[in-house]
Amino acid sequence: MDKIRINGGRPLQGSVKVSGAKNAALPLLAATILAPGTYTLHNVPDLRDTRTMLMLLQTLGASWERSGGSLRINTSELTGAEAPYEMVKTMRASVLVLGPLLTRAGCARVSLPGGCAIGARPINFHLRGFEQLGATTHLASGYVEARVEGELTGNSISFDIPSVTGTENVLMASVKAKGITIIRNAAKEPEVGNLIDMLTAMGAKIEGQDTDCLTVTGVNSLQATEATIIPDRIEAGTYAIAVGATGGELEITDCDPSHLPVLMEKLRSTGMSIEAKASSIIASCPVNVQGTSCPLQAVDITTMPFPGFPTDLQAQFMALMVQCKGTSIIHETIFENRFMHVAELQRLGAKISIDGATAIVNGIDRNKLIGAPIMATDLRASASLVVAGLVASGVTEISRIYHLERGYENMVDKLRRVGAAIEQFAG
Ligand code: EPU
Repeated sequence: MDKIRINGGRPLQGSVKVSGAKNAALPLLAATILAPGTYTLHNVPDLRDTRTMLMLLQTLGASWERSGGSLRINTSELTGAEAPYEMVKTMRASVLVLGPLLTRAGCARVSLPGGCAIGARPINFHLRGFEQLGATTHLASGYVEARVEGELTGNSISFDIPSVTGTENVLMASVKAKGITIIRNAAKEPEVGNLIDMLTAMGAKIEGQDTDCLTVTGVNSLQATEATIIPDRIEAGTYAIAVGATGGELEITDCDPSHLPVLMEKLRSTGMSIEAKASSIIASCPVNVQGTSCPLQAVDITTMPFPGFPTDLQAQFMALMVQCKGTSIIHETIFENRFMHVAELQRLGAKISIDGATAIVNGIDRNKLIGAPIMATDLRASASLVVAGLVASGVTEISRIYHLERGYENMVDKLRRVGAAIEQFAG
């Protein structure tokens, strides 16, 4: 299995291009099930997760071809309506085919995802939403079976808490439902907006984009379309955080700074300079008269649904706080078990204690972090370990990096091109 080796202590310098967003690509790929035809999706990142979703579409009868960052996907003839355990166990977002399959085929059978490294992650909101639209759902042999006799019918649906894939799934089940569907307490993440844009281009009628109340007026037919995946705000944020950790200056291009409002404010509060342009961010660290980076100031964060601080950047931000001046209090409010990176950061010398959903990080000097063998536990935890490895003196070797490949396109190459001593090798 591949590992990453980093020789830490080098500032990042130069320009790094952000790829398309994994969490937008996955629902947009699932949306190609909704209506028969040939779709063209641009800026699709080539990741383990997008490949899994393409494999799943193929299992359902679709065909596809890639040309650079663009995919042509033909869903004219679907031959199946089942997402098997083998796929769902490697990628929970496979459940995103439930809504579109209900719309297209009137039935779907999807393996129920179990808990994962960051929490229990149930899909009860998705299933309740489908039921409110007139479908029946039941669990048999580890699979969720959803079915509708006749047509799905619009209804008023309220999420207990905003769910990103829940909102996307229910949206895709409602676009052709008879009458009007109102989704309250909907997720406002930019990835949901990207899906709404694609559904609208297909002929769907959706009002309330970027708000927590979506109104869908069911239409009789939808057509295949062309759509572009938005830039990955979590990848952009990870590189901005990495500059804070290592020092230096990065121009982070092909991103949308308006998708990272709280992160940019928090990084500025540490003492970093963050310049937001139309489609790029210039992130840099203050330097003293000798030209070496000054220590940054610790700040507190609380993860929240968009536009709050994203849970998907909490682990990486902690790797920065580990070597800032002072104490940082990090509250994780979205997932109950998202501190798996803490024990690994401690192996490098970080001073962190956990109290329930709160991590208390006592900053130490950059040069006190010392490289060690560490292990990735989930996607964003892996990115946090890379950030820490870029700072720690000596060699850090990270195992189980297949987690990283699920969501970061060419991260090792991208970091190497901006000055990091990082390599991937078969371990
Ligand atoms: N929840 C329920 N029941 C549900 C659905 C969600 O209780 O039916 C709870 C979850 O357990 C969690 C909260 O609601 O406590 C919010 O979860 P959400 O449903 O929004 O998460 P998700 O849709 O499963 C997406 C991203 C995650 C990201 C979260 C939060 C995709 C494919 N995944 O997950 O991304 O962390 O939203 O922003 O969009 C990642 O990329 O590393 C990743 C985990």
